[in-house]
Amino acid sequence: MSAPHVRPARPEDLGALTALLSDALPGEHFSQELLREKLFPDAWPPGKDGTVLLAEQDGQVIGMQQGVHARDKGWLGLMAVAASARRRGIARGLAQQVIDAWPETVSEIEVLAIPGNYFYPGLDPRLTGALCFVEALGFERFRDCVNLVAGLEHPFPTDAEETRLAAAGVRVRRATPDDDDLLVRFFDAQFGADWLYEARLAFANPQPCLHLALRDGELLGFSAHSTQNRAWGFFGPMGTAPAARGLGIGRVLLWHCLNDLRAEGHRSAVIPWVGPISFYHLAVGAVVERVFWRYRRDRVRKKADH
Ligand SMILES: CC(C)(COP(=O)(O)OP(=O)(O)OC[C@H]1O[C@@H](n2cnc3c(N)ncnc32)[C@H](O)[C@@H]1OP(=O)(O)O)[C@@H](O)C(=O)NCCC(=O)NCCS
Repeated sequence: MSAPHVRPARPEDLGALTALLSDALPGEHFSQELLREKLFPDAWPPGKDGTVLLAEQDGQVIGMQQGVHARDKGWLGLMAVAASARRRGIARGLAQQVIDAWPETVSEIEVLAIPGNYFYPGLDPRLTGALCFVEALGFERFRDCVNLVAGLEHPFPTDAEETRLAAAGVRVRRATPDDDDLLVRFFDAQFGADWLYEARLAFANPQPCLHLALRDGELLGFSAHSTQNRAWGFFGPMGTAPAARGLGIGRVLLWHCLNDLRAEGHRSAVIPWVGPISFYHLAVGAVVERVFWRYRRDRVRKKADH
């Protein structure tokens, strides 16, 4: 048996990567299309760049590690080692090579949870081997978050709430490509570049998956869906400007997105990386589907970590 050989992955490796990840994470559904979006997107969110390293042995792909970095921060993304090759240091070696290739400005590392393009918003603690692995690498859990699921058996009626909002001067409508200047100003002031990037992805669909609430030409809130992970019935992001919170805008925007997903044939919607659970539970009966633990560490490990 030859020693594992490590090299950057290319889109031509998507077949082997899909097979490796599907075997390593049997509870997930990985298609090549979804993995292309996660690993080799046409564009990374602003300021970010990504790579994938893979380990090969005797012509077989036996391990992979995704890395994404911005100026100050890096992310260890999707990772997997073939079951027959585990506990031989392959994942540790791949992770170290990914980290070593980042610029010196990167000082903090997080596991998964890559804003703007993520498969998982943290580590599912049921992946206990992976949990042990990241803790062995010195990562510490600092927060958790959840994915919610909402049933789409019935459409959510929006008329009554929209009439009430209209009386207060608020109009809710689907975004059009002409709204771009408005979006740039709004995200610049409120929610930042990552969410502008995600909101713009909504225009990749023939019918933009983005709904807006406006008053006197001013954008007050937005909600999007299907910007990534489309096969899941994927909601988000959404946000209401702080000054406009409490009017019921977010609820109506959410209903429009879930109605779109229902009309597209989804039976349920994933509301990921939450956040305000009670808002979604009250508005659409969403319930917790998965829990994720967020892990981070300094790039340079403290002596006590080793
Ligand atoms: C997580 C994973 C990539 C680790 O790969 P690996 O090549 O076996 O890991 P390494 O051999 O480099 O392990 C390094 C250290 O991590 C710890 N570790 C790794 N796997 C472990 C396990 N199953 N149980 C306990 N500790 C573990 C150990 O401390 C290990 O060092 P040691 O073997 O000297 O004791 C692999 O278990 C895997 O593919 N799991 C399924 C996919 C997954 O859950 N991915 C995470 C979400 S994307």
